[in-house]
Amino acid sequence: MSTPSHSSEVHPFLRGNFAPVTQEYVSHPCQVVHGQVPQELFGGQYIRNGGNPVYPPEQGRHYHWFDGDGMLHGVFFDGQGRPSYTNRHLATPLLTMTLLLLRSPLPSIALLISPLSSLHRIVVAILQAFLIALRARMGVLSVANTSVIWWGRGLGLDELEEDQVEHVLGASEMLSNDPDQRLLATCESGPPLEVQLPSLQTIGWDRLKDPFTGESLAERRGRWEWWKRFGLSRVQEDWMTAHPRVDPLDGSLLLYSTQMFDAPHVRYSVIDRTGRHVIWKEGIDVGRAKMMHDFAATRTHTILLNLPLTLSPHNLFSRPPVPLIHFDRTLPSEFVIFPRLQPQHLIRFRDPEPSLIFHTANAWDEYDGNGCLQAVNMLGCRFRSAKLVYAAGAIDIPAVEKKFGAGDVVRLQYYRFDMTGSGKIIHTFPLSAIPFEFPTLPPLLGMSPARYVYGCTMRSGLFDEPLGGAAKVDCIAKLDVLELIERGRCRGVGKSMEPVDPRSSAEILKDWQDGVSGPIEIFAMPAGWYAQEPRFVPRYNGRKEDDGFLFTYVYDESHLLPDGTPSSDGDAGSELWVIDARRLSQGMSAVVARIKLPQRVPYGLHGTFVPGSAMRHQRKVEQSLPPQDLLQDKLARSRLQNFVSILFNRPMYRDKSKAEKVILALWLPIGVIMLALSIKEVTSYVVLKQL
Ligand SMILES: [Fe+2]
Repeated sequence: MSTPSHSSEVHPFLRGNFAPVTQEYVSHPCQVVHGQVPQELFGGQYIRNGGNPVYPPEQGRHYHWFDGDGMLHGVFFDGQGRPSYTNRHLATPLLTMTLLLLRSPLPSIALLISPLSSLHRIVVAILQAFLIALRARMGVLSVANTSVIWWGRGLGLDELEEDQVEHVLGASEMLSNDPDQRLLATCESGPPLEVQLPSLQTIGWDRLKDPFTGESLAERRGRWEWWKRFGLSRVQEDWMTAHPRVDPLDGSLLLYSTQMFDAPHVRYSVIDRTGRHVIWKEGIDVGRAKMMHDFAATRTHTILLNLPLTLSPHNLFSRPPVPLIHFDRTLPSEFVIFPRLQPQHLIRFRDPEPSLIFHTANAWDEYDGNGCLQAVNMLGCRFRSAKLVYAAGAIDIPAVEKKFGAGDVVRLQYYRFDMTGSGKIIHTFPLSAIPFEFPTLPPLLGMSPARYVYGCTMRSGLFDEPLGGAAKVDCIAKLDVLELIERGRCRGVGKSMEPVDPRSSAEILKDWQDGVSGPIEIFAMPAGWYAQEPRFVPRYNGRKEDDGFLFTYVYDESHLLPDGTPSSDGDAGSELWVIDARRLSQGMSAVVARIKLPQRVPYGLHGTFVPGSAMRHQRKVEQSLPPQDLLQDKLARSRLQNFVSILFNRPMYRDKSKAEKVILALWLPIGVIMLALSIKEVTSYVVLKQL
């Protein structure tokens, strides 16, 4: 990658430690530079996904944080706890095409959301992507760059369910003899992509085939007029949310997919722990097509977030036209709740104020003394505006999205939905004043009233930094959500925008230093160091909910050169920190292990930890995987290919000369004039002949 003269000219999500890496490592031994690796991690692997564009767009072209070819960064701990680092690109057809074209064939999300993008530019970009996909016979247009989940047959803790599984399968040894669990890299614009652990080699698209009926994500459900077989909606048929939910007790997988071109725009599915499709692509009416990044689920109910971020081709043809992705402030925030296995029995809860939730933290049922469901509770990171969507693309934020000023902070918001028939949101309020995103909690406590939720925050600044900046995480927060909810509920029913805990991050940190504890605890990174999304790993035989460790990749920005480019020195790599979740306020003394990595890990998206006990149930690959070249070799070959092509004057992609541009600009009008002249000539001849 060329080094720009002025780092400020580089897109904020491509500079500093947001810049992509160009080197892949395989099982590179790492040094534990501080502390000891806890025994809980032995035999397990931590994996984190994120965009890493192999050919970032040229300066001045659109780019968005959510773009970029997916790359996994993993640290594997062997049986003795010795760590090794592997990072591999997800080998998608799009990556192959990008290496061929020396640029991504996909339009940036920034192009689709920018109010300055002209209609013809968007249409041409989309058509170009689809035509390239068609020409290259790429069935899937996904970079699989968002998250990773571990799922498969036999997951879950419920012994009753275990018996049922054995009954259904008719073979009690099936779970142990036919392991089926696997790591799936996800992105909402395609099916999940199976990846082998610990090598992180791509296996292939996993369309979640039902072992009993053979039905898979690729098969169409619902109305299917003949012309749609050739339409764009077919391309979206096997898409799946980047954030499916796994029930920690019964092991079932809950998911939905969105359909931009075809109503109903949401299809909801449930797969049980045997792989059987219990509910499959049931349509949910959400009005116009939406960009829905996440949803929530309790053990009995599912909550869809039908929020006003539209993703609809109709936007382009509305009056006045708006971008393909548009936050429509005329729409309410709607929460569609239905029993997990009865999506037809839905209840719609509406908050008239538009809002945006990218991630939910947790949801759980609440029963009365007689065991009757009273309410569904949900925690989500709520934005009042869509600033983040613009900021992550370094696009000018529309004035209407800036009207909340300093009060527009993403906060962990509590919702309590009445399930006794009133259709009302009984409570909704923010738990704290601090910005809070990338929530996580102990995996086995999801869908139940877990006490602690962990996530990213910062000493100052916001996640939706204004144009030219990029949010960086310098604090990890731990919220005692049950205490904060209790306090908030005491203030009375209804909606409140006043945070239960009004303190800033700095005030919370000071309180803990002064010996004043409270429901929020913050781990502050040393100055100049930045973290990423944390993941929680419970301690063996832990007595309390917070008895465990938080994982996060961290980077010391003193390794950035004066012009903002990252140093490539041997000691300029990131570290993986393992932090004791019980004592976050103790700062660096809570870090139980620091593992030095051979290179930096760019700030990315979501990850997971797969314990050694689960990896033993990994699905076996039918045929041994062919060797997958390292990125550095692929890049060298791709550049050589391009060089040879230019040498023989058959460029695959290059800037056009002025003369070529003039010819290209004129050929269509000249062609039309020539055609018109020909028609005129022929008709005159016919008329003359008739005379
Ligand atoms: Fe996400």
